Amino acid sequence: MRFKKTIGLISAAASMCCGTVVAAESDGPGVSAAQAAQPWMNPRLRAGERAGLALTAMTLDEKLKLVFGYLGGDMPSKKTTRPAESRNQSAGFVYGVSRLGIPNLWETDAGLGVATQAGPDVRPATALPSGLNTAATWDLQTAYAGGAMIGAEARAFGFNVMLAGGANLLREPRNGRNFEYGGEDPLLAGKIVGAQIKGIESNHIVATLKHFALNDQETGRTTLNVKIDDRSARMSDLLALQIANEDGNPGAVMCSYNRVNGRHGCESSYLLNGVLKKDWGFQGWVMSDWGATHSTVPAANAGLDQQSGMPFDLADYFGAPLKEAVLNGWVPQARLDDMARRILHAMFEHGVVDHPVAPVPGTIDFKAHAAVSLKDAQEGMVLLKNDARALPLNRSIQRIAVIGGYADRGVLAGGGSSLVYPVGGNAAPGLEPKNWPGPVMVYPSAPLKAIEQRLPGAVVAFNDGADPVAAAKLAQASDAVVLFATQWTGEGMDVPNLSLPNRQDALIAAVAAANARTVVVLESGGPVTMPWLAKVPAVLEAWYPGTSGGEAIASVLFGEVNPSGHLPATFPASESQLPRPVLDGDPKASEQRFDVNYHEGAAVGYKWFDRNGLTPLFPFGHGVSYTEFALSNLVAGVKDGILHASFTVKNVGSVAGKEVAQVYVSPLNVQWEAPKRLVGFQKVEVQPGAGVKTAISVDPRLLAMFDSATKTWKIARGDYKVILATDAADDKAVSTVVHLQAATYDVNGKPLRGGTR
Ligand code: BGC
Repeated sequence: MRFKKTIGLISAAASMCCGTVVAAESDGPGVSAAQAAQPWMNPRLRAGERAGLALTAMTLDEKLKLVFGYLGGDMPSKKTTRPAESRNQSAGFVYGVSRLGIPNLWETDAGLGVATQAGPDVRPATALPSGLNTAATWDLQTAYAGGAMIGAEARAFGFNVMLAGGANLLREPRNGRNFEYGGEDPLLAGKIVGAQIKGIESNHIVATLKHFALNDQETGRTTLNVKIDDRSARMSDLLALQIANEDGNPGAVMCSYNRVNGRHGCESSYLLNGVLKKDWGFQGWVMSDWGATHSTVPAANAGLDQQSGMPFDLADYFGAPLKEAVLNGWVPQARLDDMARRILHAMFEHGVVDHPVAPVPGTIDFKAHAAVSLKDAQEGMVLLKNDARALPLNRSIQRIAVIGGYADRGVLAGGGSSLVYPVGGNAAPGLEPKNWPGPVMVYPSAPLKAIEQRLPGAVVAFNDGADPVAAAKLAQASDAVVLFATQWTGEGMDVPNLSLPNRQDALIAAVAAANARTVVVLESGGPVTMPWLAKVPAVLEAWYPGTSGGEAIASVLFGEVNPSGHLPATFPASESQLPRPVLDGDPKASEQRFDVNYHEGAAVGYKWFDRNGLTPLFPFGHGVSYTEFALSNLVAGVKDGILHASFTVKNVGSVAGKEVAQVYVSPLNVQWEAPKRLVGFQKVEVQPGAGVKTAISVDPRLLAMFDSATKTWKIARGDYKVILATDAADDKAVSTVVHLQAATYDVNGKPLRGGTR
């Protein structure tokens, strides 16, 4: 096997990491010897100081090398080959400055694990469930643990930068990359992605918050122009990124393909110099998305610090042209210094220099990592419906039909640059599309096998669902049916609509008509519509459940694990309810310029549904358990200017379970973009008959409107309803009213010096 080899010294870094990697490390410089001649190698100095010292020792050409990134693979269409020092079929590579002890940057995608770029020599790794699944856990520890695990694998494979930390808001449910992100709410997405970033960086590598910003659909992604006002952006997409940046402290930020109010993401001084660096005080570096650099002088002066992934761009903008621009003063020398300093700062701050990665893979404990992925999947699966206790399945079932969704082979993954190749290989090779953003990947964790193991004496029959008549016949002859439905999505494309593809709606309708005990398991990239919903007693949303998906699904179906996932996104009843019933842009055109007008402003997801009185299929926050909970004793009040709420979660059912208590606030005499906002949440485990008292405190930005003129968050004086709910449409929610004084906070939600009033 490829990864059995144990190499080198086992350093403090490897043993401190949170994932399980048996070895890795270290061919780096001896610290004490280096320190004397190279003062920036002194780990006792602050990162900023070390970056400054290293910078003074660097030549112009060395600085220029650091700001120029290559693709870590060959690109036959452009007749280029990867740098010899890069890791094969990887996302990126940047030359360090070896004479100064500054290592190269080896970059790998992405948020669900260590991905491999297309080619013959893949790098099997552990895949987490989709980002939406992790967001659906509403559990920061699970998000952190997943990040720590994939970061440990990245290090073991010799990478010190992970292009992971996708926090684009789910504004567009048809977006083909929603599965990489954290859902529609800025608080939830920001917290979850921030925790994941922190976990990744616990391995002394850099994580990358992306895609900055407002990259919410794939159709026309490199040319479309998002139109949105500053205030709405700061209260929605940017707020998610801001919170993830604060909580995660990523070393890098990746600017996006799209334009925002006329400027490309990687050429937007408003976004890069303004919002990110000046307002948020971001100290790390901005790298471009692969192919998202469009110029030298405008991009460098707008705040782009590093061009990535050459030869994806049309020219080596940050190569020789940048040197010419600096020598001529079109890009000030101080700007180039700032670019290099930012990269160095992140490398020192996150341990990239002090804990160098090894060139040969370390041994990975794939079994232990599969368990991390399993836990994430189990925590994030959402039981959408469970009538007449159709679930959990009874172990005395004699004949069960398992239908569709490649359930005999494994579980689906999403496509594109984030695709992790699994240990064991693709369980269903050859599905279309075979090429980008494919191949369609099915991880070899078969739900069928996991179901069979739990029903040793029963007849477990599989039908692939291709012929609805045959599937219905089998269903009719069975005591129960588990029907798997899939929706494959991928980067560079959106789904045309929210219907399940390949006539699966008709399949489900036919099977449900044949057997009333049909449980549907969905493996989807995001929200889907369900015209058959009333005909089936139970639906489990399993997202893309990752490496251990089959096992995770079966454990929930049989009640070994009580489902506790809650939706991180609204499931619309139909596309007509969306702010854009028809997606902007032509999915088939490669070159097209068009505007996407975010007329809904900050009213994303449930906020839009609330504002327009729309009833979704399933609301944001929704999730059913095998037990029942009661929320009570809500007490809310303001202390030291911060709104706090405490409450009790009781388990009034008969099995242990976890509830996601959600706190929303609704202003009574003030106008927000929407009737209410999520301001806090807690996932709590409660034993049957017991109650757990818990509390949240509220980030003042979530009670405020952003004021673009003064760059402050302003809370208006008035009465606000504090609502304790189990989803965004909970009609049994308990509530109380608090009175808030007018208050003003700085751009980061911190009290203004001299008071907040
Ligand atoms: C994606 C990024 C990814 C990069 C490198 C781009 O196509 O948008 O998310 O990190 O490729 O593979």
